[in-house]
Order: sequence, then structure tokens, then C-alpha cells
Amino acid sequence: MNLKQALTASLLLAGSSLCAGAIVNIDKAPHKTIAPKVFIVSMFAPEAEAWWNIPEFNLLAHNISVPGLSPLFPEVHCTKDHEICQLITGEGEINAATTTYFFIAGIAGVSPRTATIGSAMFARYAVQVALQYEIDIRELNSNASTGYIAQGTDSPGQYPTNIYGTEVFELNADLRTVAANFARKANLSDSATAQAYRAHYKTPSGKYKAGTLAPGVVECDVATTDVYFSGNILGDTFENTTKLWTNGTGEYCATAQEDNATLEALLRSSMHKRTDFSRIIAMRTGSDFDRPYPGASAEYNLFEADQGAFGPAIENLYVAGIKVVQGILDGWHHTFAHGVQASNYVGDIFGSLGGVPDFGPGRKQALVEGGNLKKHSRVNLFRKTCK
Ligand SMILES: *[C@@H]1O[C@H](CO)[C@@H](O)[C@H](O)[C@H]1NC(C)=O
Ligand SMILES: *[C@@H]1O[C@H](CO)[C@@H](O)[C@H](O)[C@H]1NC(C)=O
Ligand SMILES: *[C@@H]1O[C@H](CO)[C@@H](O)[C@H](O)[C@H]1NC(C)=O
Ligand SMILES: *[C@@H]1O[C@H](CO)[C@@H](O)[C@H](O)[C@H]1NC(C)=O
Ligand SMILES: *[C@@H]1O[C@H](CO)[C@@H](O)[C@H](O)[C@H]1NC(C)=O
Ligand SMILES: *[C@@H]1O[C@H](CO)[C@@H](O)[C@H](O)[C@H]1NC(C)=O
Repeated sequence: MNLKQALTASLLLAGSSLCAGAIVNIDKAPHKTIAPKVFIVSMFAPEAEAWWNIPEFNLLAHNISVPGLSPLFPEVHCTKDHEICQLITGEGEINAATTTYFFIAGIAGVSPRTATIGSAMFARYAVQVALQYEIDIRELNSNASTGYIAQGTDSPGQYPTNIYGTEVFELNADLRTVAANFARKANLSDSATAQAYRAHYKTPSGKYKAGTLAPGVVECDVATTDVYFSGNILGDTFENTTKLWTNGTGEYCATAQEDNATLEALLRSSMHKRTDFSRIIAMRTGSDFDRPYPGASAEYNLFEADQGAFGPAIENLYVAGIKVVQGILDGWHHTFAHGVQASNYVGDIFGSLGGVPDFGPGRKQALVEGGNLKKHSRVNLFRKTCK
């Protein structure tokens, strides 16, 4: 959740070189390439370090320098046998085999309607909810419920008609359930402070019941924005956006800042058959609530409250995540080498990887509406980096 834009930018860089398919020499053996079974994607140092000095494997056995990576995190880390690697900010080119599983594992804000702090949340949809027009709500009529209006439309609640292509990414729901079931074997960390904070979310209507429960493993979606937001109005707004843009199927529980960029990079490389988009797992552990409990202010929730969940969320990346990594390795021959068949649509709003999107206006119309956008010269520069 705390990832700064610089990291997103370097991920885009990684994504574009991923498209170009550059080959990296590893360990001074020019012809040796590696095809890790699992690539753990971490977004910033505490998320990465949660996986270091653990008994199961040593990610620091190989530190591989890759030109073009973020100056903050210039290396990819791998185990001795290169079966498991970790990229901080993303760097698929090192060897994005189509057999590799990408495991995005980061912390996130959490909606008390759907989950709680400390929980591990596994996404089917990643929705770039703030890719909209915005008018400050104070400049709207007093009956306005939100300042966010989908692009190409003039009032809330309408499906966008100017399409960028990164609005929604849909992941393999069957793989998600398999991974979540592995994680359910974990004994998640919690803290007394987090327990006390959760209790504030008890209401007579029970609308935040999920927020009051002990940490668990939940299958629900991730909303990505580069604004770190707090409060009821934005929470409600983006809930509505998630539901609308996924045609009623999606429900966000996690709010993060970078999954759309990671997924766009992986979509591009999957279009070039360098990775398999149906082998992505996106797990987010809840570090803080995205809105206050009844009676508290949005500012209190963001700035003052000690929610006590940052530590448990970081720990649970490992505690829950290790079960996922081990599950994949243990079941490699039986299941994962050949893959977990997705019974849902997998990909973006354009149907870029084939199949028929189960959200959005349909491939043809989305492309028309995406082309439309170019006339307004707001083309996503990233799209030009890969042909
Ligand atoms: C890899 O880097 C980490 C710190 O980032 C260091 O602790 C470790 O010793 C390095 N491994 C090797 C093999 O040099
Ligand atoms: C909001 O109020 C304005 C005028 O104050 C009115 O024109 C508009 O129809 C109202 N919108 C809704 C959704 O009620
Ligand atoms: C789970 O963790 C808690 C706190 O660390 C511990 O008290 C409990 O015994 C653990 N339960 C299991 C089944 O390992
Ligand atoms: C979310 O959608 C519901 C149902 O359409 C609506 O009543 C509510 O005002 C919307 N919330 C926001 C913040 O726009
Ligand atoms: C991902 O979303 C953030 C926040 O909306 C945005 O700044 C960034 O450009 C997006 N990246 C891609 C590749 O769409
Ligand atoms: C999704 O909903 C929009 C309207 O909200 C509709 O135009 C579109 O056809 C729907 N797409 C699918 C795949 O159901």
C-alpha cells in the first residue's frame, strides 16, 4: 500500500523491457537461463524482507543485478536452485517462463465491509478505480454522492465509454481458490492492538461484521489507486466502481497502489507468450482500514489511530504466503507444472489474450472506445513501449 510512484515507474520500465524480451546473463554464465517455478513480487523493503531469513528457503543465495531495475532495488533474489525468485518492483525479463507462477504479495488497506486488518485477501479482479473524472464534491450540487464520474460519461453509476485498457484485470479464479486454500492452513499473526481496534467496528446493523472478525483468508478483490485514501465517501464510491466495472461480480476488500501496473506488465508479456497470465496470484494482507469506525473521523482513521496491524500484515505475507509457495512446489508435478485451468475469463477489457470478457462493453466496442481516447491525446505512454 505504501509503494511510491517511483517504484511503479520502474515496474513499467521492467514491463517494457519484458515486452522487448531482453535476455539477462545470470551468474556470469552467458547461456544459462533460469525458469523459476515461483516469482514472488514484493513492492517495498518490509514486504521483501518478510521473506528473508526464513527456515524454508534462502532467497539471498543469488543476488542478480539487472540493469534498468529501480536504483532502490537493483537486484533480483533467488534461491540456490533458482526455483523461487523475488523481484522488488518487478522484472520479468530475467526469465519469465510461461510455467512460472507470479505471486504478488503486498500489504493493503482493507474495507471493513468485506474483510479485516491482518487478513490475507486473494483477488480475482484488480480494478483501477480512480481512472475517472473527478470534481471535488464541494463544487457539486448538495445531492451529489461522489465526485468521481467514469470517463466518457457525465454522471456517476455509468459504465466508462473512454477505455484505457487497464480499468480491470481478471485473474484465474480457480487458481485463486487453490492458493487461498493453501493459505487457510496458516495460523495468521495478529496483535492485541488490532483486536481492540477491530472491536470498534461493531454496529447494530452489522454492516462491518467482516471487519470485527479475527484475521482470516478471504477471496475478494483489489482496488488500485495511487491516492492513499481514507473515509466513507471514497470507500463507497470505489465499492460502486468495482461492482459496476466488473458487471456486478467484483467486490473490493483490499486497496493497493500498484497491482494494475504489475498486471499490465504481465499482460503485455503474456501477449508475447513470455508469461502465462492465468498463473498469477495476487494476495494482499490488510494493514489498516480504509474508512473509520462509526463515530470516528476519516482523519483519525488515517493519521491518529494505532490500528496495530502493520506488523501482523507484514508477517502474514510470509505466514500465509509460505503455504502458497510450498503448495505450488509440492504439487508441481501433479498439478502446477501443467497449470490450473481457469473456468472464468482471464485478462483485460479488450480480450487481449483471447476469450470473451465477462465485464465491459465487449472487445469490439472497447477497442472503439479505446481508439476514441487517442483523439483526446491521452494515450497511455506505456502502451507505446510494446508493439
Ligand atoms: C545478497 O544480498 C543480501 C542483502 O541484500 C545479503 O545479505 C546477502 O549476503 C547477499 N548474498 C550473496 C550471495 O552475496
Ligand atoms: C441534484 O440537484 C440538481 C439541482 O439542485 C438537479 O438538477 C438534479 O437532477 C439532482 N440530481 C439527482 C440525481 O437528484
Ligand atoms: C496460533 O498462533 C497463536 C499465537 O501465536 C498461538 O497461541 C496458537 O497456539 C497457534 N495455533 C496453532 C494451531 O498453531
Ligand atoms: C453507491 O451506489 C448506491 C446504489 O446505487 C448509491 O445509493 C450510493 O449513493 C453510491 N455511493 C456513492 C458514494 O456514490
Ligand atoms: C496504475 O494505476 C495508477 C493509479 O491509478 C496509475 O498512476 C498508473 O499509471 C497505472 N499503471 C498502468 C500501467 O496503468
Ligand atoms: C457490462 O455492463 C455494461 C453496462 O453497465 C453493459 O453495457 C455491458 O454489456 C456489460 N457487459 C457484459 C459482458 O455483460
